[in-house]
Amino acid sequence: MKGILLAGGAGTRLYPLTLVTSKQLLPVYNKPMIYYPLSKLMLARIRDVLIISTPVDTPRIRELFGDGEALGMHISYAVQEKPEGLAQAFTIGRDFIGDDSCAMILGDNIFYGNGLYHKLALASENAASGSATVFGYYVEDPHRFGVMELEKGIGGNEKQVRVLSVEEKPANPKSNYAVVGLYFYPPGVSAMADQVHPSARGELEITSLNELYLRENRLNAQLLGRGFTWIDAGTFDSLRLASDFVYMIEQNQGMSISAPEEIAYRFGWITKDMLARSAERYGKSPYGEHLLAVLEDRIVL
Ligand code: DAU
Repeated sequence: MKGILLAGGAGTRLYPLTLVTSKQLLPVYNKPMIYYPLSKLMLARIRDVLIISTPVDTPRIRELFGDGEALGMHISYAVQEKPEGLAQAFTIGRDFIGDDSCAMILGDNIFYGNGLYHKLALASENAASGSATVFGYYVEDPHRFGVMELEKGIGGNEKQVRVLSVEEKPANPKSNYAVVGLYFYPPGVSAMADQVHPSARGELEITSLNELYLRENRLNAQLLGRGFTWIDAGTFDSLRLASDFVYMIEQNQGMSISAPEEIAYRFGWITKDMLARSAERYGKSPYGEHLLAVLEDRIVL
C-alpha cells in the first residue's frame, strides 16, 4: 500500500502565520505539524510515501525528511501548482500509486488514541479487497466538514458502519459525524479521481470521490469513538488546541508522542545506529532526549 501526505493549500485562514511559512511546518507544541500525520501513515505500515505540497513549500519539507532513508522509508515529493482540491492528489500521484491501493492523510490533521493501529489495519484489508474506508468523528459543528450519514441505530461500538450519504460542508448536516482527513482507497483510485468534476467552489472534492465509491457500494466507514482525539489544526483555535493537547499528553506521561524515528525503530525499519544518528540531529532538545531514551531501552511499552 502507498501513502500520500497532502500538505499544500494556501493556508489563508492562518494569515499572518502562514504568509511566508507552510502551515504544515508550524509547531504543534514541540514538533512540526507534519510529524503527526506522517507518523499515522507509518502506523498503517506504509513505507512508501508521496508528500504533495506547494511549489514554495515542497523544497522545505524535502529538507526535513529527504528521501526518507533515515526513517527506513521511501519518501518522494510532488508539487501541486494550485490548491484545486483534495481529490487532485490522486491524479498528481498517478505514477506513484501505479496499481497499488493508497491511503491519504491531510497534513493538518492530528489523530491520537489507543487502538488506531487496528483500525488502520482493517482499512488496509478493505482496500486490498476493493473497498474504500473513511473515518467518522463526532463533532459539535459538522457543517464545517465533510459529513457522513450513517445507517440508523449505529453506535460507536461497531467495527465498521454503513454510510448512507456523504456531503461536503452541508448547511443542514444529516449527522454529527465529520469525515476526517484520512482515507483508504483500493487500486484504481486515480482513474476514479478522473471522474470527479469541480464543485460549485471550483475544487475537486474528496467528498465527490467518496460518493463515487458509495454509489458502487464500495465505501466503508469506521467511527473514532470518545477515546479518540481528532483535530483539524487549520484554524487559530484548533492549532492552539492541538498544541495544548500534545503538551498535556506528553507532560502527563513524560514522553513524546508521534515521533517518526521511534516508530521506524520499533517497527524494525531502522537500526540502532540509525536511530542514534537521528537523535544526534535533534541535539539537546527533549525530542532528541526522547529518541535516546528509546535507544537505551528506558521506555518500555
Ligand atoms: O479536515 C477534514 C476535512 O478536510 C474534511 O472533513 C472535508 O471533507 C475536506 O474537504 C477537508 O475540508 P477542509 O475545509 O479542511 O479543507 P481545506 O481546503 O482546508 O484543505 C485541507 C488540507 O489540505 C489543508 O491543510 C490544505 C490542504 N490542501 C487543500 C486543498 C484544497 C491541499 O494541499 N491542496 C488543495 O488543493
